[in-house]
Amino acid sequence: MTLQKKIYEGKAKIIFSGPKENTLIQYFKDDATAFNAKKIKVLEGKGEINNLISEHLMKILSNNQIPNHFIKKISNREQLIHQCKIIPLEVVVRNIAAGSICKRLGIKEGKKFKDPIIEFYYKNDKLNDPIVNNCHIISFGWSNEKELLKINKISLKVNKVLKRKFEEISISLIDFKLEFGRKTSDNSLVVADEISPDSCRLCDVNSHEKFDKDIFRYDKGNLVDAYKNLSIRLGIMK
Ligand code: TMP
Ligand code: ASP
Repeated sequence: MTLQKKIYEGKAKIIFSGPKENTLIQYFKDDATAFNAKKIKVLEGKGEINNLISEHLMKILSNNQIPNHFIKKISNREQLIHQCKIIPLEVVVRNIAAGSICKRLGIKEGKKFKDPIIEFYYKNDKLNDPIVNNCHIISFGWSNEKELLKINKISLKVNKVLKRKFEEISISLIDFKLEFGRKTSDNSLVVADEISPDSCRLCDVNSHEKFDKDIFRYDKGNLVDAYKNLSIRLGIMK
């Protein structure tokens, strides 16, 4: 594990200072949390797998010219990333109805949306990450009109690229959450945080077997085994 200075500890990751200016180290913990940490468990091996999957998916973004914070994986649980000022939003893209949208709007789970739906949530645990719209975001200065347009455009591109990649292995990308940051080196907008089965909903197109954190949220089986199976399907684990 790194000997660098701890800068921030979140629910599933720790951020350490990096070896060079404008870099950080992102460390993946084994902790799983759900429902704003009302449910917590240590799931041995989860951190390593999420590091591996997030590396793989961020590299796919890079190969598709989608700017992101990933530089390189430096150990089983750590990756070197560009230092960013995180925008306090969780950007959710939905292809198929699941989770909170079903409850909030009374939509049947499994409904396919004609076009992807983008939602913004204000990243604030004390307030339970409430849903917000463009007016809130601009009025409270979390972002601006021009940057929000870029966030929408990048989010839809990430969806297109990842949805296609998962379809190639007969997995459906139901929805996912992105976070964005501005690089401290040049203030440019990048996809930050992680993209892993902790922050996506994924299921087999035919059997509907799940490969995501809903397994932990709703006690549907062994999460680490499911993440391993996903890694095998992605071709990044034997
Ligand atoms: P939701 O249906 O609970 O709003 O979740 C939508 C997507 O966002 C789902 O893929 C899980 C992900 N997500 C996170 O990554 N972090 C969170 O805190 C929440 C609530 C959801
Ligand atoms: N990550 C969030 C938490 O624990 C919620 C979730 O993913 O369900 O608190």
